[in-house]
Amino acid sequence: CGYCHGEDGNSKRDYIPNLAAQHPLYLFNQFEKFRDGTREDYVMSKLAQTLSLEERIDIAVYYSQQTAKPRTGGDPAKTDAGEKLFAVRCAGCHGDKAQGFRDMPRLAGQPAEYLGIALRRFKEMDPTKHSTPMIGVAGVLSEEEIEALAGYLAGR
Ligand code: HEC
Ligand code: HEC
Repeated sequence: CGYCHGEDGNSKRDYIPNLAAQHPLYLFNQFEKFRDGTREDYVMSKLAQTLSLEERIDIAVYYSQQTAKPRTGGDPAKTDAGEKLFAVRCAGCHGDKAQGFRDMPRLAGQPAEYLGIALRRFKEMDPTKHSTPMIGVAGVLSEEEIEALAGYLAGR
């Protein structure tokens, strides 16, 4: 895992999410999604199949206890708009500081590129096959809003 997500859960590449400081319940649930095919990624879908229940629990607990390192955010001219949008449309679930809560993931400090990928993924999801509030939330975001939010949250 460390090769991609970093030994301490701080991702080494911008298209890969941090696992550090993420809630163990969220991490565990995402493994289940990769295992049962609700979420697909070439590497993760295969890996999730090979981990035992005990390993999935241990890994989720380990990464949840690591510290997320701050990242540099995007262009302030855009991130100001992202901050306002976040306070109105996202903070109610993801927390005032984007710190997450239980199965609502932490977004603060995630690489901007990954945040963009995740938001576009929700936008394209088929609501008859997936159930997550993010389909409705991301569906109405413009490309500009996605970039503003991603830049703001990365530096949060
Ligand atoms: C080759 C690189 C690679 C390796 C090795 C890898 N991952 Fe991932 N992982 C990814 C990518 C890329 C994503 C994002 C996939 C997507 O966009 O859906 C991801 C997503 C995840 C997520 C979802 C996080 C979120 O914020 O939603 C979890 C949890 C995760 N990986 C855990 C692990 C664990 C545990 C291991 C080791 C057993 C591991 N990964 C090994 C590349 C990797
Ligand atoms: C009604 C609650 C709710 C609201 C409002 C909400 N989210 Fe989410 N969000 C969730 C949940 C629950 C998940 C976990 C999704 C899943 O895996 O099914 C999530 C997942 C995400 C992810 C993926 C994180 C990762 O590590 O892969 C991103 C990015 C995200 N939300 C961004 C946002 C942004 C930006 C907004 C505001 C525009 C927002 N969310 C508003 C509940 C919410």
